[in-house]
Amino acid sequence: MADSTNQSQEIRDKAKEFVFPSAFTYYEEPLVIEKGQGATLIDADGREYLDFFGGILTVGVGHCHPEVVRRTAEQSAKLQHTSSLYLTEPYVHLAEKLAQITPGRLQKSFFTNSGSEANETAVLAARSHTGNHEVVALRSGYSGRTGVAMSLTGQAPWRMTGAGTMGGVVHLANPYCYRCPYEQTYPSCDLLCARDMEQVIQTSTSGKIAAFIAEPIQGVGGFIVPPKEYFQVAVEIVRKYGGIFISDEVQTGFGRTGGKMFGIEHFGVEPEVMTMAKTLGNGAPIGATVAVPEVADDMGGLTISTFGGNPVSTEAARATIDVIVSEELVHNSELAGAHMRTRLEELKERFPIIGDVRGMGLMQALELVWENKRPAPDAVNQVFEEARKRGLLLGKGGIHGNTIRITPPMNIDTADIDRAMDILKASLQQVKAA
Ligand SMILES: Cc1ncc(COP(=O)(O)O)c(C=O)c1O
Repeated sequence: MADSTNQSQEIRDKAKEFVFPSAFTYYEEPLVIEKGQGATLIDADGREYLDFFGGILTVGVGHCHPEVVRRTAEQSAKLQHTSSLYLTEPYVHLAEKLAQITPGRLQKSFFTNSGSEANETAVLAARSHTGNHEVVALRSGYSGRTGVAMSLTGQAPWRMTGAGTMGGVVHLANPYCYRCPYEQTYPSCDLLCARDMEQVIQTSTSGKIAAFIAEPIQGVGGFIVPPKEYFQVAVEIVRKYGGIFISDEVQTGFGRTGGKMFGIEHFGVEPEVMTMAKTLGNGAPIGATVAVPEVADDMGGLTISTFGGNPVSTEAARATIDVIVSEELVHNSELAGAHMRTRLEELKERFPIIGDVRGMGLMQALELVWENKRPAPDAVNQVFEEARKRGLLLGKGGIHGNTIRITPPMNIDTADIDRAMDILKASLQQVKAA
């Protein structure tokens, strides 16, 4: 457990008294953060940490990037709010920019405040456009915390007690090769997990679907990377049954996967809708649903979002994208990601508890297991506390909580990656079987 002074403890005590306890925090003693710069966070007691989770893959260009800070501050001083009833320049120019950097015919945007709302909007658009209701999602997927988003989510722990699921969502087994749901091996499996889409639609829906929603790499699920042909096979079946494809890029967007701006671009499929949030605003609350024109145009009825497309958030997003492009972070994510991957593979050679290393670019994970692939969430917790003591912050994931997610800012350098990997190694050395 980390040392704590009165400053952090006072804030923790107040949180116990005044904050919903279901608001989940990491660590035995929750960390109280005061400042951030680049890849560094400083807690309320003045301790420094290398931030290798970035507020859940959000701080893509580093904490308080000067260009994002400057433009956000200037916009705050000029105009903070209008609602979506009026147009503003940052709002419309961000929509134009997204049309330019997204693949295929994606063109029109609707802005909200979060990834959950972006996914709600995407499902609404798919239902309006197709006239169909049912949506196929993936087991172990994560779509957010609104009613529809929790129903799309394929992980019981992230559905709140009593929330259950709303109708119209069915789940397909996920392309989790390390623990194949069909106990097959790629490629001799012939992509059974993708081909099962047809059976699922024929047996568990009304026979016509509105959409298939999936993350190119499952994020909260533990960075599960599908085989390269997966989306081509699955999406062809989806379209045969009237559905469109929604690519949830909330975690994988904006260069995180290395070499491509969006995760789905690695898989040779063009979605009709893309959802994004997190790195889009580098911490400013913003979600976007970007659609091909015919899907956007078919949204029936009236809709507003009071804060969606807020001038400060949209200017923060424009500044973030400008930084990603001008600092060539999509490329850096590939290079730095390859370096980090090599270091992680070396750790796997040394520590049998690392069952799998997976991910793309600067989105890498370690799945920790005991004998016979028995999930080791207890070991993840030990690594977490040890790494924190040594000044490194990581993320967790996986349906069993036994995956460590590692996602530094995309402008990270190899020296900081090496520092983090040394701390990770020292922390893994401390793991004891229960
Ligand atoms: C893939 C994915 N989609 C949607 C969401 C929901 O985003 P938010 O927490 O901004 O509502 C998340 C959040 O972690 C996510 O990882």
